[in-house]
Amino acid sequence: VTAALYRALFDTAPDAMIVVARDGRIVLANPQAARLFDWPLAELVGLPVERLMPDEVRHAHVAQRAGYMERPRVRPMGAGKELVGRRRDGSRFPVEIALSPVADGDETLFAASIRDISETQRQRQALVRARHDAAIGRLGQLAFESADFDALADSAMALVAETLGATAAGVALARPPHDELAACAMHGVTPALFDALCRRLSANFATAHDLAAVVSDADLAGLFRDAGIGGGRCVPLVDAARPAGALVVLTHDAPRFDRDAEHFLALVAHILATAALRHHAQEQLAHAQRLEAVGQLTGGIAHDFNNLLTVISGNLQLLEAELAGDADASDTIARALRAVGRGAELTRKLLAFARRQRLSPRAVDPQRLLADLGAMLERTLGEPIRLHVACADDVPPAYADPAQLEAALINLALNARDAMPRGGRLEIGANARTIAQDDAGDVPPGRYVAFTVVDTGLGMAPDVLARAFEPFFTTKETGKGSGLGLPMVWGFVRQSGGKLAVDSRLGYGTRIDLMLPVAPDAASTATATTSNAQLRGDETVLVVEDEPEVRAIATKFLASLGYRVHAARDADEALHLLRATPDVRLLFSDVMLGAGATGVELAQAALAEHPALAVLLTSGDERASADDAAGAFALLRKPYRIEELARAVREALERSN
Ligand SMILES: Nc1ncnc2c1ncn2[C@@H]1O[C@H](COP(=O)(O)OP(=O)(O)OP(=O)(O)O)[C@@H](O)[C@H]1O
Ligand SMILES: [Mg+2]
Repeated sequence: VTAALYRALFDTAPDAMIVVARDGRIVLANPQAARLFDWPLAELVGLPVERLMPDEVRHAHVAQRAGYMERPRVRPMGAGKELVGRRRDGSRFPVEIALSPVADGDETLFAASIRDISETQRQRQALVRARHDAAIGRLGQLAFESADFDALADSAMALVAETLGATAAGVALARPPHDELAACAMHGVTPALFDALCRRLSANFATAHDLAAVVSDADLAGLFRDAGIGGGRCVPLVDAARPAGALVVLTHDAPRFDRDAEHFLALVAHILATAALRHHAQEQLAHAQRLEAVGQLTGGIAHDFNNLLTVISGNLQLLEAELAGDADASDTIARALRAVGRGAELTRKLLAFARRQRLSPRAVDPQRLLADLGAMLERTLGEPIRLHVACADDVPPAYADPAQLEAALINLALNARDAMPRGGRLEIGANARTIAQDDAGDVPPGRYVAFTVVDTGLGMAPDVLARAFEPFFTTKETGKGSGLGLPMVWGFVRQSGGKLAVDSRLGYGTRIDLMLPVAPDAASTATATTSNAQLRGDETVLVVEDEPEVRAIATKFLASLGYRVHAARDADEALHLLRATPDVRLLFSDVMLGAGATGVELAQAALAEHPALAVLLTSGDERASADDAAGAFALLRKPYRIEELARAVREALERSN
């Protein structure tokens, strides 16, 4: 075997090969090396080996080389980290290098075989991308199939951790009242660790991408170390421009995610955010449908109840007049009447829930309303509750019934108080809000006035929150709560053309946003004038009422106030009577008159024949009276007290004079 043969072997080896002396100069190179680095073979020999490396590693290499020469060892192909070669024109490419010391007489030289792995790397990258794509496909399928968001998040986290080879992954959602992060699903970490991480991230999760600072936090470092976590990445879940949560990936070392991995994470975050939004919307829809059905039922019951209450209270009031001299009897009757009053209050709330309340919407200045409300609550809420009332400067007037709006906010404030038995902070505010097409649901998109009530109280567990708006649902002890506060608020807001948003979580507090339409420019803010009418009269009144008991009460009330009274049970009979008795000055009719024409239709027909007739309608069911035609007539709410009837009758008579 000749030296020429060794030389030929060297020159024809498939890999690029160079031999380097102790001083770092290349003493031998084969044509493959010249081709790979794009140097003429003759110039390559004599060149410092560092010329074949990118600038930034040259220095380090010189030092490394010195070390290696002291303790030479064989390094096989592909060992160690990814290396980069540099061509003569400065371009770079990934290489694998095998090193072995070779003896040449006394001197030790170093032989390197170098292999271009651009192609291998491309294949590897394609493989990684295919794996990411498969994971995204699986995630899309899960998002489609999962019954709830939590289930989806659970499987998604296992998938993310596995795909990226991460130690752990978790999802947290921003929760009221102050958008703190709360753990939703996690894989590979304990709830305690993830909760601690969420708490630390809460203030800045939208911007905290690198978790190095959190992981090395003095309080948490031990926890993370025990869990084998050295770093992590946080990607916000963005819902309609607002960060709604975060996707967190934790790794053994500081994460070195390449563009593909970052892209994968961004896709996962996007899918999760969309799924969260969709599940939320579905829940709200189911909730609204259930409330709608209960509302229908409740409205009917409340209506019948009001008729009963009218009869009871009417008879009691007649007895009251008869037994005026008997102190004991008067006392008993007064107590019974107070109970009727409470009953009427309950049916009013039920009607509000069923959206059958008669509302008198006007332009309401939020600033003024909140100032009055704040002063009132300051007096009623206990000492340990810190009340903050703040109205943004640029809030336009809302279009709503001011008394009902105030009642709704008081209901919310009282709920907040009850949720903070040991004190806390209650914030009531108003600000302008734009509802976008996507979020509008069943209200038109556009500008709204949002009243917000935020407390730092106990919050609601999901099962309580799911039922909180049902009438009679209460968690308060018997006698403390009737379970009609939130239903009233819900019905009022819906009937006012607005929308309600609730966010609550056990242990963190509750935030309720009550969005009402902005008042049209022309809406009046004037309050109704109160009349100092004389409360008795002797005019002739026609009472129309299909319920015999109620008719009897109305007749007796009016007679006792001095009026001459005729009574009819339906619209036909009433029109006959009107023609037969031309001295009738006032038509006092129920709105719902059984099978025939309604009170509104009767009133319109009667006015067509007798234009000077005064009209007063009454109803226990205010939806019937809420339509436009009914709005043209004065309405007395059932059950009514005799004084209320007296005043309403006088006002109606005076208006038509
Ligand atoms: N701010 C809140 N924080 C915690 N839980 C609340 C809050 N608001 C309402 N809830 C829960 O919802 C339930 C229903 O509230 P709702 O106002 O309808 O009735 P209530 O307060 O129990 O009785 P009522 O208002 O008729 O006196 C409450 O019993 C309570 O469990
Ligand atoms: Mg309440």
